[in-house]
Amino acid sequence: MQIVRGIGIAVLSLSVWGGAPASGEEAKPEQLIDALNGVFGAHAKMRAAHTKGICVKGNFAPTPEAASLSKAPQFAAPVPLIGRFSLGGGNPAASDSQKDNVRGIAMHFQLPDGSNSDLLLISAPIFPVKTPEDFVSLLTAVASKDKDKIGAYFKAHPESTKQGAWLKARETPASYATADYFGVHTFYLTNAQGTRQAVKWKAEPVGGFVGLSDKDAEAKGADFYAKELDEQFAKGPVQFNLFAVLGQPGDQDDDPTAEWPADRKSVKVGTISISGLEPAATCDAGIFDPNALADGIEPSPNDKILPMRSQDYAVSFGRRSE
Ligand code: HEM
Repeated sequence: MQIVRGIGIAVLSLSVWGGAPASGEEAKPEQLIDALNGVFGAHAKMRAAHTKGICVKGNFAPTPEAASLSKAPQFAAPVPLIGRFSLGGGNPAASDSQKDNVRGIAMHFQLPDGSNSDLLLISAPIFPVKTPEDFVSLLTAVASKDKDKIGAYFKAHPESTKQGAWLKARETPASYATADYFGVHTFYLTNAQGTRQAVKWKAEPVGGFVGLSDKDAEAKGADFYAKELDEQFAKGPVQFNLFAVLGQPGDQDDDPTAEWPADRKSVKVGTISISGLEPAATCDAGIFDPNALADGIEPSPNDKILPMRSQDYAVSFGRRSE
């Protein structure tokens, strides 16, 4: 999710916010969701983050090379998928033309045994914070609207400026279909022989990234992605190549604010084909869970953000189901 904008949009008073974790304490999932609500507002029946989105369906077809990396069933044979494109942040009226916001794609790969293996990607290779506690501090500073507090946060956490800078250095994606997407965290794949490999996920549109200049993006207004996607579906499925970027010994596996060196090799593991719309209720019936993974894919045990995300999303789901 993305926080850079939304400052000043539906900001709640801190009196409804659960408060920061005491120094040295771990942030609780409720504190994360309260802190998100503190910046973006709490919107009944809606996600606390990635609030604006479109539910879609399609399938994933693996390459022959995929099974050499992971024994997960989706890398052995094609599977159907349910997905959701979204804009980062918790503003249900976020603008599709906003440059310094991430686009997201979340997917349930629907496995033959009835379970899902999920994959959540955003349109930047990095996240603004290393720990849930930093995220609460950042959101709290932003919600305060106090320039000194916000400045003090970023001074103490220069890594939190990197995602916004990365997004601002590129054009705004012209469509959900023409953005490239990243898994951000490190995952470990295990193949049938028991070989383990660190990877980061990357999905590239088959036709390559297509962006809009700032002027053209502004002219498009706030709500052009849904129409754009419809037009794409009328021509055929929207397709992305999914790559596993291969980590090397010594590459960090604990820091979602940092990229690996640019020369890391990647293996194409399959094609994501999104063929059409799906009723929103299908996507809203549960969570896309970054830790719901088939045997053969594991989250990095060293990342502080990744394991917490399932609990954060469960709190958001519980509140939007009320
Ligand atoms: C502590 C860090 C994070 C927090 C607190 C957080 C919070 C949330 C919340 C509350 C939701 C909505 C859950 C729901 O109601 O179903 C969400 C959705 C999402 N998040 Fe995160 N997130 C975090 C990190 C990340 C990272 C690192 C990524 C990078 C891949 C990411 C990608 C997404 C995507 C793609 C969705 C949309 C899922 C959907 O469409 O239902 N998030 N996040």
